[in-house]
Amino acid sequence: MPQQTRKAWAGRMAEPTDRLVEKFTTSFPFDQRLYAHDIAGSIAHCEMLAHQRIIPRAHAKRIVTGLRQIEAEFKTGKFRPSPADEDIHMAVERRLIEKVGGIGGKLHTARSRNDQVALDLRLFLRAEIRDIRELLTRLRHALATLATRHADVIVPGYTHLQPAQPVLFAHHCLAYAEMLWRDTGRFDDCLKRLDVLPLGSGALAGTTFPIDRRYVARRLGFRALSANSMDAVSDRDFAAEFLAACAILGMHLSRLAEDLVLWSSQEFGFVELPDAFATGSSIMPQKKNPDVAELVRGKTGRLYGNLLSLLTTLKGLPMTYNRDLQEDKEPVFDSVDTVKGSLDILSAMLPQLRVKRDRMRAAATAGFTLATELADYLATKGVPFRDAHGVVGAIVRYCLTERRTLEELTLPELRRFSPRFRADVKKWLSAAAAVRRRRAVGGTSPDNVRRQLRRHGA
Ligand code: ARG
Repeated sequence: MPQQTRKAWAGRMAEPTDRLVEKFTTSFPFDQRLYAHDIAGSIAHCEMLAHQRIIPRAHAKRIVTGLRQIEAEFKTGKFRPSPADEDIHMAVERRLIEKVGGIGGKLHTARSRNDQVALDLRLFLRAEIRDIRELLTRLRHALATLATRHADVIVPGYTHLQPAQPVLFAHHCLAYAEMLWRDTGRFDDCLKRLDVLPLGSGALAGTTFPIDRRYVARRLGFRALSANSMDAVSDRDFAAEFLAACAILGMHLSRLAEDLVLWSSQEFGFVELPDAFATGSSIMPQKKNPDVAELVRGKTGRLYGNLLSLLTTLKGLPMTYNRDLQEDKEPVFDSVDTVKGSLDILSAMLPQLRVKRDRMRAAATAGFTLATELADYLATKGVPFRDAHGVVGAIVRYCLTERRTLEELTLPELRRFSPRFRADVKKWLSAAAAVRRRRAVGGTSPDNVRRQLRRHGA
């Protein structure tokens, strides 16, 4: 058997692995991304083995030195994989034995790749979630800054994409900040359940060696130990939760992206995208397209797909570890990259958005968005709201046939529809007044918006 294709488990086999099988089963091309976590886990494990006198301290020292050198090789791009490297774990072990000789083989005492890979993925996600949390905060700040800079700008608020009631542009921006705040909470929840050390579960049943799992947990910063080795080597709930959090975050970013696409359209004209964040057409010279926002929206599809992919892989797996679980990594890596990329580019683009406040203001009262004010006015004068609604509906119909706006109507005209209208009604008929009056907690009044801004650190 040629040396470079000899596997760690070759002792059992009468013939070498077929090249096709090597190619089909290897995870090294993608799971090498876990090298730093794999090595950190191995160092903690090795030091525990020495501490418990399971292996000699002198051997542990040489193993740890070797592992650090291997980490440096990865970091500097000098690591040379062999075709026999089935995965990151075998690659590191193979290289370790090349470096320190046969004693390198002691590292895998009281450990299996099954608990090792479960550990690596947890360490990886713990680090990535910390990054994603920071990017979420950055985007929330970008939204809050945009809101602060345009604190007095009023836009039409929509339901069914039909003009509904005027709102502060800041209120609209901060709606997204709320979504991102909930996303942060979802990643925090995910971190809580991720914070469990699976190492020490062995292949599935635990280990006969007198290991100290608490020692390893302390070294790696885990708060709890897995309580059931069979569950620990086959549990990927934490990865599914992570992908679910990414999918929901993606849905939020997609909605924000959709607003940017709409707002930058000719028809809305509420914002202009910075040239540096827009793209042109290869045929139509006049075009300025919102491709960044469209891609953020489009990438949500893969975030959903990654979640579904992992859930499908997990369903129906018999206890305990099955190689199917190797399929957990690519969706996780892809969601990490996708979410980080989208958060990053939105945080960079939003501060450069040109807000066309005049367009927004003009649109804010178009389409009879002050009709609710008239109905509210009548209700404060004692008219049952349901009746007031009917009266104002008739007024809108009148305006449509007469080609008038609500604001233009004279008091005598209004009084034809209800004798309860008085001169003070005029004060109600402005977008600014409509916004100011929505003072109940959570509404679009400037006071509430200021409170929200504080929530999001602006
Ligand atoms: N590459 C494998 C994975 O990602 C590592 C664990 C392999 N374990 C095994 N018993 N074949 O799941």
